[in-house]
Amino acid sequence: MNALQLPTEPPTLSDEKVTLAALSEADVDQLVLNCTDPTAVKWTTVPTPYTEQDARGYILEYVPKAWQEGSALNWAVHDHDGQLLGTIELARVRASAADIGLNFGPHARGTGAAVAACRLLIDYAFDELGLTHLHWIAFDGNWASVKLSWKVGFQEPVFIPGFLEQRGELWDCWHATLLASSPRTAERDWRVPTSS
Ligand SMILES: CC(C)(COP(=O)(O)OP(=O)(O)OC[C@H]1O[C@@H](n2cnc3c(N)ncnc32)[C@H](O)[C@@H]1OP(=O)(O)O)[C@@H](O)C(=O)NCCC(=O)NCCS
Repeated sequence: MNALQLPTEPPTLSDEKVTLAALSEADVDQLVLNCTDPTAVKWTTVPTPYTEQDARGYILEYVPKAWQEGSALNWAVHDHDGQLLGTIELARVRASAADIGLNFGPHARGTGAAVAACRLLIDYAFDELGLTHLHWIAFDGNWASVKLSWKVGFQEPVFIPGFLEQRGELWDCWHATLLASSPRTAERDWRVPTSS
């Protein structure tokens, strides 16, 4: 039993740019495009190849089950025309901590949608769910991801060799943390981190 009172279905979270809501079958085609994009394949643990069947299994089975169990809380991120931009999740929910995971399609990157979605999710996780710690883990070299974590206030990332497994191989990672009590905006200058 989880100490947090977690909902078992995704609430809708919205701002002037994006809406976070439950994934549906209407998202299948764009989800396949997002998960077969080479950048997503390189920097995430999506199965590869990724088929329509994978997308249906994710939307109809994996995600609802994870919500029911309180193990991972996933949302679709849409624009206000209803187009799927990406997905975002609170992954590995344990005690009052979780990891943020996200994958946006190429059409949605560089638009500010990902930062808007992160801000909605962070406010919800801390202010509504009562989480105390959020973690951000990115493969070494995924500077778009590390930069996004910086924009929303995550602390200076720490280099962890061989921390993440991707398709049977271990990869070096950057790990950053955001506390519920911390400012949710960048408080230091941006720089690409270096491990040496
Ligand atoms: C991570 C992700 C959500 C970020 O989306 P985004 O905030 O829209 O950002 P972009 O992808 O457009 O990245 C561009 C930013 O990263 C910076 N960036 C990208 N590559 C960089 C590099 N090699 N060196 C330095 N900065 C870099 C750009 O300068 C840009 O900064 P700006 O937004 O201040 O102009 C998106 O890139 C994505 O979904 N990628 C694929 C999946 C993924 O990596 N998920 C995260 C797993 S931890």
